[in-house]
Amino acid sequence: MHSPTSVLVTGGAGFIGSNFLLHMVPRHPDVHFVNLDALTYAGNLTNLTAIEDAANYHFVHGSVTDAELVADLFAEHAVSTVVHFAAESHVDRSIMAPLAFVETNTKGTVVLLEAARAAWDDRDAHPDRYRFFHVSTDEVFGSLGDDGFFSETTPYDPRSPYSASKAASDHFVRAYAHTYDLPVLISNCSNNYGPYQFPEKLIPLFIQNALHRRPVPVYGTGENVRDWLHVRDHCTAIARILEAGRVGETYCVSGNEERRNLDLIHLLLDLVDEALGREPGTSRALITFVKDRPGHDYRYAIDASKLRDELGWTPTYDLETGLRATVDWYLANQDWLDAVQDESYRDYYEQQYSHR
Ligand code: NAD
Ligand code: DAU
Repeated sequence: MHSPTSVLVTGGAGFIGSNFLLHMVPRHPDVHFVNLDALTYAGNLTNLTAIEDAANYHFVHGSVTDAELVADLFAEHAVSTVVHFAAESHVDRSIMAPLAFVETNTKGTVVLLEAARAAWDDRDAHPDRYRFFHVSTDEVFGSLGDDGFFSETTPYDPRSPYSASKAASDHFVRAYAHTYDLPVLISNCSNNYGPYQFPEKLIPLFIQNALHRRPVPVYGTGENVRDWLHVRDHCTAIARILEAGRVGETYCVSGNEERRNLDLIHLLLDLVDEALGREPGTSRALITFVKDRPGHDYRYAIDASKLRDELGWTPTYDLETGLRATVDWYLANQDWLDAVQDESYRDYYEQQYSHR
């Protein structure tokens, strides 16, 4: 059993990282949380206003690729636990500009591993004291046909620059476990949705466009299949694996909610119409088929039985309940969407932190 004392969370101003901190910081007042985030376009400190003044929370503006800064943080905060979210996370951006993905996702992970290797030099004597949790994706396994599932034993077969950079980072994490006995844990999770997701990803983009009656761009024929999990369920899975996962193991995480994109989009747009009191079918009329994503993976689906059977984790949201809650959240938080669109969210760091 691992009981963290001081947790370095990387990428905590992003979608999943901020949901994780909002979940963990109030529940663990005796644990110190340090959030290291470079505040790229995807980092949004307004996500964290509910905890920004908590005594057990500390924000650091910087990059996981900065080896000196990372080593200093390990020393200054006596880091016992890393939960590593920081990444370039959008497949389309990786197709346009792959090098940023190599830099942050691959090199940044190795910088963190090096810092942990140096700082945790008494790890052999204290097997439960330290954990390096690497948050990864199901995309490292490649693409499925109509049948079958990814599991922890599926061979790696990444097919986009994003998934290649994540696969490389997973390999480094495993290499550090094997070579240096670093106490690592890896999760490979399916597509997340929920509050605070940057509206370049399918679900928040389509909610935003439908709200403003703009076209919703479906890639190719919309036949591709994704397996959806509410972000809060991903966060409880990470917390559970961190607490009781077996060192060196990988855990696949999913809600077992596979949908063809077009089916998901129909459900989502119908929920938007319902929430806005629009005539049924209004938002479906916005569907526009556009050129396919190059190398678009056909299907992802995860078998999460290891996590369920070993650690007793199960998701709490079914897809329709989770999507309904998500639509309601974005409609109730249109100021959040507007601030992302007009980029005013980027001023928050200067406004709130420059005088601290
Ligand atoms: P996101 O793009 O919303 O957030 C990424 C965060 O990392 C941002 O706050 C950004 O500012 C920060 N960041 C980027 N480069 C950095 C750097 N060099 N140093 C420090 N911080 C940096 O991403 P997300 O969707 O929250 O994904 C988080 C992690 O979970 C990623 O590692 C991703 O691969 C993984 N993942 C995501 C999903 C999903 O569906 N979103 C599913 C499975 C796994
Ligand atoms: O599977 C986990 C992965 O899920 C994470 O590792 C990634 O960080 C995350 O971005 C997500 O990747 P996807 O590429 O599956 O997510 P995205 O929301 O970009 O696209 C979901 C599906 O919808 C995919 O088949 C492409 C399609 N799509 C997406 C967009 C943005 C469209 O048809 N139109 C769009 O405008």
